Amino acid sequence: MGSIEMKRIMRRGVGSALLGLGLGALGWWVGADASAQTSGPPAAPAPAAGPQIADTKTNLEAAFDSEINARERYLAAAKIADREGYAYIASLFRACARAEQAHADQHVHAIAATGGSARALLQKMSFGSTPANLQVALSLEVYEAEQVYPAMLEKARAEHVSDAVRSITFALATEREHVRLLTAAAQTLNQKPVAKTFYICPGCGRTMESPEPGECPNCFTSARKFVKVT
Ligand SMILES: [Fe+2]
Ligand SMILES: [Fe+2]
Repeated sequence: MGSIEMKRIMRRGVGSALLGLGLGALGWWVGADASAQTSGPPAAPAPAAGPQIADTKTNLEAAFDSEINARERYLAAAKIADREGYAYIASLFRACARAEQAHADQHVHAIAATGGSARALLQKMSFGSTPANLQVALSLEVYEAEQVYPAMLEKARAEHVSDAVRSITFALATEREHVRLLTAAAQTLNQKPVAKTFYICPGCGRTMESPEPGECPNCFTSARKFVKVT
């Protein structure tokens, strides 16, 4: 998702009411744009201009914000997919949401290491029908996988921020998986496949269609700890 652009959008909304929620020992919080809605046309895909990359601390803060918004977007879109009978898409959206949560969790630790603040402001969201929501999700994942995270990773490596390199590498790997899964889902959309259980690594967000033996190849979390999401 367009982290930097999203951050700019959300800064414009800072004047709206903020709803603070206590979320975790590290003290990050989520605000909500009071005018958020879940109807109307889907949001426009990410900008073509490309991400604006800052220092790693700022990048991580923006990435955290983006992941929280991505999680909320997926969960809302999943409810619409359920209503419209797209059971498989609903499962996939919920699986992606759980993975975005894992990325946010990793970013929190990296942000703590840089002395930054983990904050998220839920942006105003609009949704359409499930086919349209799927395309928006795919566009945002492609933007993150091909532009945002590669640029942030390059910056983190240049600045030798190892925690950031770790969390961004995990997120990048998973967003690429999401691109693959969403692309495949678009090809069978009209057949409305049945719901499916996905297996999510809580350490890095790795999103698998079947259980894996051993441990996660990305972050070495035991496969027994993978979270099942349907
Ligand atoms: Fe994703
Ligand atoms: Fe993992």
